[in-house]
Amino acid sequence: MKILGIETSCDETAASIVTDEGAILSNLVLSQIEEHRAFGGVVPEIAARAHIDHVHTLIKAALDDAGLSAGDLDGVAATCGPGLIGGVMIGMVAGKAIAAAKNIPFIAVNHLEGHALTPRLTDRLVFPYLLLLVSGGHTQILVAEDVGRYKRWGTTLDDAAGECFDKAAKLMGLPYPGGPQIQALASECADPDAARARFPLPAPMKGRKELDMSFSGLKTAVRQHVENLPEGVLKRTNVADLAFALQAQIADVLAERCGKALARFKETYAPETPALVVSGGVAANSAVRARLDALCAETGVRAYAPPLSLCSDNAAMIAWAGVERLRKGISDPLDFKARPRWPLDPDAAPRHGAGIKA
Ligand code: KG4
Ligand code: ZN
Repeated sequence: MKILGIETSCDETAASIVTDEGAILSNLVLSQIEEHRAFGGVVPEIAARAHIDHVHTLIKAALDDAGLSAGDLDGVAATCGPGLIGGVMIGMVAGKAIAAAKNIPFIAVNHLEGHALTPRLTDRLVFPYLLLLVSGGHTQILVAEDVGRYKRWGTTLDDAAGECFDKAAKLMGLPYPGGPQIQALASECADPDAARARFPLPAPMKGRKELDMSFSGLKTAVRQHVENLPEGVLKRTNVADLAFALQAQIADVLAERCGKALARFKETYAPETPALVVSGGVAANSAVRARLDALCAETGVRAYAPPLSLCSDNAAMIAWAGVERLRKGISDPLDFKARPRWPLDPDAAPRHGAGIKA
């Protein structure tokens, strides 16, 4: 079975072909970062126009790379939400058009399910597992119970962790996207303990029983620290210290929440080999990975992070989610409506401060 996946929910246009055996025959991602950089973040209208310009070229190139033509496909999977709706519609309509022309199944994929199922593509992970999905668009703790069945145990109440990196970086005068910039500068910090003492930051939700998270207070604290620095051009050593303090705090906050979630996961599911998966763009952060690895080592849990190219947004994960759904006999009608908000766990209470991120 060969499935084409299409991803256009944010600022990456992506197309990929994946087989039901988990072979990635092609995997192309076109980043729009340069087009958004001048605005310090993703501009939805620019993103949608760029997807229109490129999606057909990427699909054709993904087929060429795999040595296939559209007639060889067994199905088309496209992200149909959640995300920036203008972009989502473009990938979705492109997918539906191919499915209609070739008379093959169309699979409407929840972008979050793409992230959630990636460790099954790359590592044949078995259900259930605990998942920390941590990106610019989402920060959630979920239990993946089965294809199409998730329990959301925690989510951000306001900003996503990646958004916090990005907004804090902007306050420090660093370009978009801020996460990699903060990581690079943090590595220049000469005295980690002194940096954290000099720039104390709050630990939102720490110790709370529920597993929700909050990052907007961290961003506000960074703003105050920046305002207290000497006026004029920020000194690189000051920014490096602040970058270190922020990165360490975000890693601590995520690890504290995951520690609580792991205890609950073991108690609820008694899995034979408990696994914690971290995925999403922020999973690229070495401090976050190190902190979660340490937590897993302490608690006898297998830590798993997909390779970086499959952690951040891509279409292989969408094609794979299509494989998993189609194998279960699930496909969708061609009048499926794009969903700007599409929670993986429909029973989880909405968190209004987080909007579509919850
Ligand atoms: O998953 P992703 O590519 O797109 C979505 O948001 O869905 O994640 C992008 C986010 C951005 O906020 C970016 O700053 C963050 O991931 N990010 C990082 C790092 N690399 C990317 N954050 C911290 N450290 C990094 N090394
Ligand atoms: Zn994503």
